[in-house]
Amino acid sequence: MSARSALARVAAFAARPAVDPAALFAAVPAACVLLDDENRFRAANPAAEQFFGLSFPQLRQLSLTDLIADDNPVFLMIESARKHNVLVTERDLNFESPRLNHRGIAIQATPLPEEPGAVMLVISDWSAARALDRQLSFRHAARSVAGMAAILAHEVKNPLSGIRGAAQLLENSVADADRELAVLIRDEADRIRALVDRMEMFGDKPVERTGVNIHRVLEHVRRLAQSGFAAHIRFAELYDPSLPPVWGNRDQLVQVFLNLVKNAAEAITNASGEGEITLATFYQPGVRLAAPGNARHLNLPLVVAIRDTGPGIPQDVEKNLFDPFVTTKSGGSGLGLALVAKIIGDHGGLIEVDSRPGRTEFRIFLPLYPEDHEDAPTALR
Ligand SMILES: Nc1ncnc2c1ncn2[C@@H]1O[C@H](COP(=O)(O)OP(=O)(O)OP(=O)(O)O)[C@@H](O)[C@H]1O
Ligand SMILES: [Mg+2]
Repeated sequence: MSARSALARVAAFAARPAVDPAALFAAVPAACVLLDDENRFRAANPAAEQFFGLSFPQLRQLSLTDLIADDNPVFLMIESARKHNVLVTERDLNFESPRLNHRGIAIQATPLPEEPGAVMLVISDWSAARALDRQLSFRHAARSVAGMAAILAHEVKNPLSGIRGAAQLLENSVADADRELAVLIRDEADRIRALVDRMEMFGDKPVERTGVNIHRVLEHVRRLAQSGFAAHIRFAELYDPSLPPVWGNRDQLVQVFLNLVKNAAEAITNASGEGEITLATFYQPGVRLAAPGNARHLNLPLVVAIRDTGPGIPQDVEKNLFDPFVTTKSGGSGLGLALVAKIIGDHGGLIEVDSRPGRTEFRIFLPLYPEDHEDAPTALR
């Protein structure tokens, strides 16, 4: 580049209008808040509003101690930043309260020289990224079952129907004392058949998808649950009725939420038996994921949360939660969540899990029905 053209470039750059600092602050993807000398909120960007689940006008009425317990280590780091006038960084902090549920967050606290006592917090919440990691491994787990399911279905089903038929014949011809055994064989053959049928759902068939009203799906699931395994459990529904249809397969989504509600109900029943399941939907823009076999990134702004007040996910299954055959229940097959992971993976969606005693939440992020649906493929893979 000649000296003249370099100069011309510098001049052109200088002539550009300056960027509004407020717009820059608003665009920062990490949650940023400015606290005054008594930890009251003085400024918050949109990422912070999302993080705290409150708008800035609401936050402005509050101090950080209104949102988290005052023995949280964040207050020590704020004090330290204020007192020593240095930047303080902490990782793996938890903001847990009835309103907030953020674990493993990183925070930087930095004093503002122009404003005595004021401290700026920059909060990085990597839970979505971690969930992404986990989700990708869930997909892998579900895939490995797919091949096995096809073989099992093929190899087991035919001889099984032979065994069942023979047992049924025996039932009518053997003495009374032995009839019980023949019935046992038939019942067990039926149980294996049901298991194989469930495994077959892991097959690699493409998903047929249309616009699905997620609230109808959830209503249906709640009704099924309340008329059966969750008859004794309270349900709360917090729906955002303005949400548009999701891009999905209705029957498969029923299966997903039924499995999640069933786990929630079983967690409550196995503990005290007293508890509540909350079904919630909300809109959360900004979550994007590359769909399998699809070059485009899908936006996943529609979130369904299934929350229960049960004892929480046992630690020893937490790491392999979505792997097949992982179960802590005597009669469980451990296929419920593996199937959830498989179906949500096929939908190009995402799963996040938060669990502690008294509060377990599965959040499912789903894509919306595309506006250009005429051209949209009906199957993802
Ligand atoms: N809401 C929940 N609360 C506590 N633990 C849970 C919850 N959901 C799942 N789990 C744990 O995860 C394990 C795996 O769940 P999954 O649905 O895959 O299998 P399962 O419920 O044991 O058996 P199946 O669904 O095949 O009947 C459960 O056994 C349980 O320990
Ligand atoms: Mg289950």
